[in-house]
Amino acid sequence: MNHNEDLYFRQVRIGPMQNFVYLIGSQRTRECLIVDPAWDTDALLALAAQADMRVVGALVTHYHPDHVGGTMGAFEVPGGVAELVGKADARIHVNKIEADGLKKITGLAESDLVRHEAGDLVEVGDVSIQLIHTPGHTPGSQCFLVRNKLVAGDTLFVDACGRVDLPGGDPAQMEESLRTLAKLPDDVVLHPGHDYGQTPTATMAEQRNTNPYIRMAMRRVGAAR
Ligand SMILES: [Fe+2]
Repeated sequence: MNHNEDLYFRQVRIGPMQNFVYLIGSQRTRECLIVDPAWDTDALLALAAQADMRVVGALVTHYHPDHVGGTMGAFEVPGGVAELVGKADARIHVNKIEADGLKKITGLAESDLVRHEAGDLVEVGDVSIQLIHTPGHTPGSQCFLVRNKLVAGDTLFVDACGRVDLPGGDPAQMEESLRTLAKLPDDVVLHPGHDYGQTPTATMAEQRNTNPYIRMAMRRVGAAR
């Protein structure tokens, strides 16, 4: 089995807010992680089971309820990380900056969490997932790079980027994060957290040409702020 054949990767559009959930796993060990498992835990576990994959955890791009479930103000989203740990033997991987916020929003216990630093690797079977800290949409937003796939949460969408006007948002940090992502190789394929673009995915080569936020961030390299 070669390197790429071992990767199990699936994009799932779910819920009323055009969210994308991802299943990332190892074909060899039949284990997978779910990225941002909100809206319908049973449906996501059924998808994994149909593929003969065992869910062993979740990766959190950021702690907004449409990605992790739970409540924020009057906003309540079903499913999510708390329901997942009740139904599967799963640990929840989150950037350390948002760990306490995630517990507050979802009711998770500390023992459910794996707190991560920028640049950490998460292994599932033979598949290695790199965590890239990309603050801006929220302080602990992170993207996941696995082989040539970038799972970008609400940091980068096809031809757009995440909002920076919500609590914890920071335009300057977003610009810096977009500059970081803009350095990824041409053939890396952006897999966003919402289906907001003309296409569900796009290459970074395409995004450097067509995404106005990436273009602006690249133009301002070295500019005084
Ligand atoms: Fe968000």
